Amino acid sequence: MLPDPERWLPPPANISWGPSHLHLWSFGLDQAKPITAGLETLLSASEKATAHRLRVERDRRRYIVAHGRLRQILSRYTATAPEHLTFSHGAHGKPFLSKEHVDNSVHFNLSRSQAMGLCAVAYGQEVGADVECVRPFDGMETLVNRFFSPLEQADWLHIEESRRLEAFYRYWTCKEAFVKARGEGLSLPLNQFDVAFPDNAPPRLVRVPGDPAEAAGWFVQTHILAPGYRAAVVLPGLHWQVDCWRWLESD
Ligand SMILES: CC(C)(COP(=O)(O)OP(=O)(O)OC[C@H]1O[C@@H](n2cnc3c(N)ncnc32)[C@H](O)[C@@H]1OP(=O)(O)O)[C@@H](O)C(=O)NCCC(=O)NCCS
Repeated sequence: MLPDPERWLPPPANISWGPSHLHLWSFGLDQAKPITAGLETLLSASEKATAHRLRVERDRRRYIVAHGRLRQILSRYTATAPEHLTFSHGAHGKPFLSKEHVDNSVHFNLSRSQAMGLCAVAYGQEVGADVECVRPFDGMETLVNRFFSPLEQADWLHIEESRRLEAFYRYWTCKEAFVKARGEGLSLPLNQFDVAFPDNAPPRLVRVPGDPAEAAGWFVQTHILAPGYRAAVVLPGLHWQVDCWRWLESD
């Protein structure tokens, strides 16, 4: 069953955290000025510098809120104050919590699109998350031809025309979440692996670069974060216990 916005619950006061836990946190990025200003105080000097390089005020505020919320969320898993968390980065820019904070159990990935952010936190396993604001745009078929695999292109063309935009984002978010889980970002060609949406069954990877047997070992889940926002989370391992929480706007 596709989770809907009503399933995004307020988080509990105390989070239960252990093997097989996958926590998805959604949050709005357009916050009142005092909330944004408070979140900015949590950022590192380099995050603040990145924010202030953004010329459009709305983009700057959204960046600040996303990174402030990320710190607040991760603070709940690390017993470290949000402003004291430090990060390192993989070869293609994927951020990780620095080693001093954790016992290697807290893996996360952030995604943001327009007014919404998503943070996935997985126990002991690299994770990828992607959220996209669903909007009609010119050239969808060109993107499908360029970035979807031949199998995905064929499946997408079988979908009734009026449903192709939604379907495009369903594929796209899963594909981005997969490359983000691998940490390779868009250096991993998006047409080199297949995502499938079988009728009456959860989405799955049917082919990934490398070992053909590996595809069956990945977990893929799609979500609607809020009306008009599609998201996906992808990570290795099949038996994840998923909780979906919406950060309370007033915090
Ligand atoms: C990662 C990537 C797929 C992001 O896609 P996107 O849809 O534009 O953005 P999203 O909002 O979903 O994700 C962005 C977040 O993912 C995380 N991220 C950055 N690089 C990442 C990577 N390689 N893998 C996974 N996550 C990554 C960051 O938290 C980033 O947040 P920030 O931009 O606010 O700092 C894309 O930017 C990319 O391919 N980057 C790699 C660039 C690269 O190869 N650089 C090599 C030289 S360092």
